Amino acid sequence: MQIQYQNPYGGDCKFSIISTTPINTNDIKVKYLITSALPYINGIKHLGNLVGSMLPADVYARFLRQEGETVLFICATDEHGTPTEIAALEAGLDVATFCERMHGLQAEIYRNLGLSFDYFGRNSSVYNQELTQYFYQSLDKNGFIEEREISLVYSLDDECFLPDRYIIGTCPHCGYQSARGDQCENCTSLLDPTELIEPRSAISGSTRLEVRKTKHLFLKLSALSHEVKAWVEKHPNWSNLTKSIAMKWLNEGLQDRCITRDITWGIPVPRLGFEGKVFYVWFDAPIGYIAATKGWGIENSQDWETWWREPENTFYVQFMAKDNLPFHTIMFPAMILGTRENWKLPDQIKGFNWLTYYGGKFSTSSKRGVFLDQALSILPADYWRYSLLSMIPESADSAFTWELFQVKVNKDLSDTFGNFVNRILKFTVKNFGATIPEGGSFGQKEQELQNTCKQLVNKYCESLKNMEFRKAIEALYSLWSVGNQYVDARAPWKLIKENPEEAAQVVRTCINLIRIYALVSLPILPFTSAKLFDALHLSNTDRTTKISESVNFDALYPGHPINIIPPLFRKLEEEEIRELSVRFGMRN
Ligand code: MF3
Ligand code: ZN
Repeated sequence: MQIQYQNPYGGDCKFSIISTTPINTNDIKVKYLITSALPYINGIKHLGNLVGSMLPADVYARFLRQEGETVLFICATDEHGTPTEIAALEAGLDVATFCERMHGLQAEIYRNLGLSFDYFGRNSSVYNQELTQYFYQSLDKNGFIEEREISLVYSLDDECFLPDRYIIGTCPHCGYQSARGDQCENCTSLLDPTELIEPRSAISGSTRLEVRKTKHLFLKLSALSHEVKAWVEKHPNWSNLTKSIAMKWLNEGLQDRCITRDITWGIPVPRLGFEGKVFYVWFDAPIGYIAATKGWGIENSQDWETWWREPENTFYVQFMAKDNLPFHTIMFPAMILGTRENWKLPDQIKGFNWLTYYGGKFSTSSKRGVFLDQALSILPADYWRYSLLSMIPESADSAFTWELFQVKVNKDLSDTFGNFVNRILKFTVKNFGATIPEGGSFGQKEQELQNTCKQLVNKYCESLKNMEFRKAIEALYSLWSVGNQYVDARAPWKLIKENPEEAAQVVRTCINLIRIYALVSLPILPFTSAKLFDALHLSNTDRTTKISESVNFDALYPGHPINIIPPLFRKLEEEEIRELSVRFGMRN
């Protein structure tokens, strides 16, 4: 008999991720597929990109793995399209070489940030090429592709058709001279490139432009609208952000969408008369999730297909910033539904608002904000991971400021977490040597501490299961605080003279608490956890203890070795904050 668990997210997967009771339904165990939006290849990403998809996805993946779940965490670089061609041109490289280098660079940065992708693929891979062409063929076979002739602007000097936003000219509404062909930045009017006065190419500046007719393929979203709507409505538990964006599009009525382009860098369209054309980047981009899973499977001799082809056994969560929601709630599902095949659809689509830089946009071109390579050259990954998650734009946009970052680093990490760990280890070694002392008894204060820790760890685990990262950070911070309160109340530095047995009990309790911290902090501060695991000489079995079962004040007992370690975190001084804000475009 199959037990039907109610899925809290109303997804296709029939198991609950909230259920804490062991699931035993004919030995079918649910597995978690996690993807974060695929970063564009043309540049190093900034803090906003990290906190809006990859970082929360990583924390969720690490948490579930620690809980003993089967997890596959997939990402890749999104490589096609005109912006990539232009970035390569600017870098003086051919597109393929440019992408290869940038992929390597991005991969290294993500590794240094502790992002634990099981596979970090590339959308220019042969897997994506095959799957994209296959999707197209299925959609075509089922009548969801239509050929149409349209008029586009051709640049004689660039020898190519120009995408709307690569045509620049004077806005017919406000006279702004650098309006883009899709929209005027100055008065926000939506434009058609043919309306621009004195249009020129954004690539070469050339004004030798003409309108030419060209054949393109359209995905008939209008014909799939009802099915997509029915599918969206099956998910009442999605966040308001996700639901409202999906419903806005559906209620306005889905427009058929052009899925091919007259450029060279992309996936060729396997159709007579379409030689030299490629698929639109947003057509092949989400298929990249499947392609990267295939790449993982093939390169690691793993069965990749069950992740996507047996939808009922997989719980699939996608992480992304809000501008990506229309593609993931509408276009990609429509593409999947249109194949009439049983591909996995997401159970949860977790969207984030914008992280701003002092209320403004992070901007690559005007060098406002902080890019990930720069961030890592300032402080190591865990400082960023913790601080960014504490300001994650979950329910509204939120602002990164150096001042807030300083508070997170100095108060939370250094004063509260780091200070507790360092002073306990030091005190222990100084007074008892490098092993956990015996003596004393587990009294009322310890009992209270244990109860509080259990409550906080439960809250933390529930928050992470529900992907509520701010709540999780609050619980983690409270957990660090109660350790400080306990040790201040018990004052072992006094007890050591009056009652060394009691002092030993306090020390033993605190070291066990550090073990709990190491386990609980792992999804968010993986590098720090690793240091603590080593300092406490935790066994390999103990390192894999579930976070939900980590509260145990008898895990490390008398005689167990420990080490002193250098301060876990350093502070950011006023002077440094001033310098950083000048260097990163806040002050002059
Ligand atoms: N490259 C896109 C962006 O950064 C995201 C693509 S997500 C995908 O906005 F899965 F659809 F590829
Ligand atoms: Zn205008």
